[in-house]
Amino acid sequence: MKIILIGPPGAGKGTQAAAVKSRFPVDHISTGDILRENVRAGTPLGVEAKKFMDSGSLVPDALIIEMMRERLAENPAGGFMLDGFPRTVAQAEALDELMKEMSMSLDAAILLETSDETVVKRLGGRRVCSSCGAIFHITENPTSVDGVCDVCAGPVIRRGDDREEVIRRRLSAYHKDTAPLVEYYEKSGLLRRVDANGPFDAVKSHLESAGF
Ligand code: AP5
Repeated sequence: MKIILIGPPGAGKGTQAAAVKSRFPVDHISTGDILRENVRAGTPLGVEAKKFMDSGSLVPDALIIEMMRERLAENPAGGFMLDGFPRTVAQAEALDELMKEMSMSLDAAILLETSDETVVKRLGGRRVCSSCGAIFHITENPTSVDGVCDVCAGPVIRRGDDREEVIRRRLSAYHKDTAPLVEYYEKSGLLRRVDANGPFDAVKSHLESAGF
């Protein structure tokens, strides 16, 4: 299975990817996670990307496309679920080229449809484990012990780009640069729309009904 997850920041891409992965053994590739690892490790890519991530803007296409070319080459035959890529039409075109080079084709582009109001509520309360990346929410999915990850007991923190002014900028970037992908994948017949405004189990069951 080769699928991509599209949706605004906070739509639940990372959360639902973990659920899909428990049903299908695919490689979950999150561009946000790869970029944050590079930032932590202080690589040249991380240093460059950090400026854009901190401000809520998209990292330039050329950097992302090169990063994904390398990442996809690590798994030439297996299935994958791309989370956060592509995020512009230029990235989608580059992915099509990469897939062609690798003699592969995409099975679906899943759009997690979420209102801006839902996004602001979800991201305002999100907490993530700085060790294993597990995702929590202060009211919807809190940790058992405050500040401690239920999965690995690592420290649970608020992401630097989950401040309200940055969330607003990330949402504008989504509407301007990523929303055109909906038409792109509609035209190719790959788009699957999933209502992602409801609680976790409702979204999970919409995804299951759609075959994911
Ligand atoms: P990235 O890390 O990809 O951030 P994002 O797309 O903004 O998505 P998020 O991780 O914020 O949200 P999500 O949809 O995964 O939601 P989650 O499951 O955590 O990217 C960060 C930055 O990197 C970008 O701003 C950009 O600068 C750069 N970047 C990355 N990829 C790029 C690319 N391709 N091109 C250019 N730049 C790129 O859920 C959110 C919260 O809601 C959690 O607290 C969760 O517990 C809760 N929640 C989830 N589902 C539900 C539900 N159904 N009900 C109630 N609460 C829920």
